[in-house]
Amino acid sequence: MDIGSVGIIGAGQMGNGIAHVMALAGYDVVLNDVSQEALDGALGRIEKNLDRQVSKGKLEQEMRDAAVARISTTLELDPVGQCDLVIEAATEREEVKQKIFDALVPKLKPETILTSNTSSISITRLASRTDRPERFMGFHFMNPVPVMSLVELIRGIATDQETYEACLAVVEKLGKTAASAEDFPAFIVNRILVPMINEAVYTLYEGVGNVSSIDEAMKLGANHPMGPLELADFIGLDTCLAIMNVLHDGLADTKYRPCPLLTKYVEAGWLGRKAGRGFYDYR
Ligand code: CAA
Repeated sequence: MDIGSVGIIGAGQMGNGIAHVMALAGYDVVLNDVSQEALDGALGRIEKNLDRQVSKGKLEQEMRDAAVARISTTLELDPVGQCDLVIEAATEREEVKQKIFDALVPKLKPETILTSNTSSISITRLASRTDRPERFMGFHFMNPVPVMSLVELIRGIATDQETYEACLAVVEKLGKTAASAEDFPAFIVNRILVPMINEAVYTLYEGVGNVSSIDEAMKLGANHPMGPLELADFIGLDTCLAIMNVLHDGLADTKYRPCPLLTKYVEAGWLGRKAGRGFYDYR
C-alpha cells in the first residue's frame, strides 16, 4: 500500500515532532488536536525547529517552506480519517486513546492504516476496540523526534504483513531505523529505559546521591547524553509513572514498582520540563 498522507492526532511534544519529520519527508500531514491553542503552538514549534535546521545549513529554505506548506491543522476528525496512515499521539492514557479510536473509526477510509505512538500500552488491546485489528499497529517515535533515529514498530496479535511492510517503508522514507518489537508491556526501549530512570529516582529517594551527582555519574560514567533524572524531566514524570504502572500491572513483578518519590512528584504536578518543575527547576 502506498502512503501519501498522514493524519496525526495530538499536537503535543510527540505529535509536533512527528508532523515535522513526516512533512520534511514529503507526506501531506493533517495535524489534529482538541485545542486550537495546542495546534498553533505545535505549528510555531515546527517552524522554529525547521528554521534552526536552515540556519545551521542542514536544510534548504525551499524545503523548509515546502514542508510547512504540507501541514494542515484541524480540530475535526473527518480530515484525519481521509489520510492513508493515522498516527495517534495523544496522552499516554488508555481511556483517552480508546475514546479517540471510538470517535475516529467511523470516519476512516476502509484502507487506512491506524497506528498508535503509545510508549507502553498493549497494541492488541487497543486494536481490538477498532474495526481493523489487521491494519493496526504500534508506531513508536523517540523524543525529540527530529533528532532520534529509531522508530519501534510493534505488531499486535492480528496485524497483517502488508500493514507492517507499509509502516516499515514509511520509517525508511523518514531516514530512520525501525526496531521490531513484540507486543509486551513497554516493548523494547521503555522496558529497559524507564526502569533505569525509576531506579535513579530510588537512588535519590534512598539518599545514595543527590540530583546532580546521580545525573553527573551516569553522564560521565556511562556516557549517556542526559542524566536519568534530567531525562525523566524531559520525557515527563507522568509518562514515566504511567509506563512503570503498565510494567508493574502487566508483568506482575515487584521489580517494576514505581518509586514512591516519582508518584509524589506526579501528585504535586511536578511533571518535568513541560510543567516548569520536576527534578530540576525550569522557571
Ligand atoms: N527538535 C528538533 N531538534 C532538536 C530538538 C528538538 N526538540 N532538541 C535538540 N535538537 C537538535 C539540536 O538542534 C541539535 O542539532 P544539530 O546537531 O544539528 O546541531 C541537536 O539536536 C543536539 O542538540 P543540542 O546541541 O541543543 O543539545 P544536546 O547535544 O544536549 O542534545 C539531545 C540534545 C539530542 C536531546 C540529547 O541530550 C539526547 O540525545 N538526549 C537523550 C534523548 C533520549 O534519550 N530520548 C529518548 C527518550 S525515551 C522516548 O522518547 C521513548 C518514550 O516513549 C518515553
